[in-house]
Amino acid sequence: MKEHDGGPPRHPLDVVVVGSANADLVVQVERHPAPGETVLGSELAVHPGGKGANQAVAAARLGARVALLGRVGADGHGRLLRESLERDGVDLGHLRDTPAASGIAMIAVGPRGDNSIIVAPGANARLTEDDVLEAAALLRSAPVVSLQLEIPLPAVLAAARLARRAVLNLSPAVPLPDELLALCDPLVVNEHEAALLLGAPGEPDRQAKELLALGPRSVVITLGADGAVVAEGGAVAEGGAVAEGCAVRAVPSPRVAAVDTTGAGDAFTGALAWRLAAGEPLVRAAAFAARVGAAAVRRPGAQDSYPTMAEVEGL
Ligand code: RIB
Repeated sequence: MKEHDGGPPRHPLDVVVVGSANADLVVQVERHPAPGETVLGSELAVHPGGKGANQAVAAARLGARVALLGRVGADGHGRLLRESLERDGVDLGHLRDTPAASGIAMIAVGPRGDNSIIVAPGANARLTEDDVLEAAALLRSAPVVSLQLEIPLPAVLAAARLARRAVLNLSPAVPLPDELLALCDPLVVNEHEAALLLGAPGEPDRQAKELLALGPRSVVITLGADGAVVAEGGAVAEGGAVAEGCAVRAVPSPRVAAVDTTGAGDAFTGALAWRLAAGEPLVRAAAFAARVGAAAVRRPGAQDSYPTMAEVEGL
């Protein structure tokens, strides 16, 4: 298969992100509307976002060498997304213009920084398994491939198969095929996503063990202001739900005043992928990522809120 226009990367990469890019249409609300209800909000703000692009920008702003493989529309939002990624030095040789509207996320942000998001995938939905296979050399060249689920599952699975190490953020949450679960190292989830995979909510430590027993090589559960829980190692109990002998560790988060939590999980995952690419152990990488995630809730927007290394060190 032929390489895309961008060809092979010009320099060694730390992380290849395979994923989405969305224009975020953001409105502040006093409270989120109930079904059937209309509420008035603030002026509309348009920010660059999308879970894939967010991961890429988060890692690049910290100093990682990053490429993004994905699709945007040849429209105004597509230009906004490209400009934001270019500003942070993300390699866009494998970001294709597509005859479809760019992805859009409609985001309502409440007074405590809490958000609700509806995504219209647009061009992101056109990313194919072939797109990924054509970039096989790129994916194999990086120590870590970072993934999320706003693109079609066959493309995610193809990327995970090619990855030397696949980091997957289960967002938005969907049930995963066993093969994909087994390739995750780590599977990154928040508490809601963990509950969806496991069928019930629970204590994070226990959830981490139960998730590990589903097959991923390691698990990270993000807990917002409470940091994260990391589980790795150990053997899966015979027919049982809990991994025997696995290590579960809690990592803290610095306390910050949350203005807007949009994209904090993507910042966490992008930072985690970069530190894993640098060879750090998972617990240390997750502790660093928790600091990045905390820094990212202090300003509005997703990519606009992501910290530099100096800001993380200052936390
Ligand atoms: O995780 C935050 C992101 O989710 C937003 O940037 C939005 O685009 C949606 O993809």
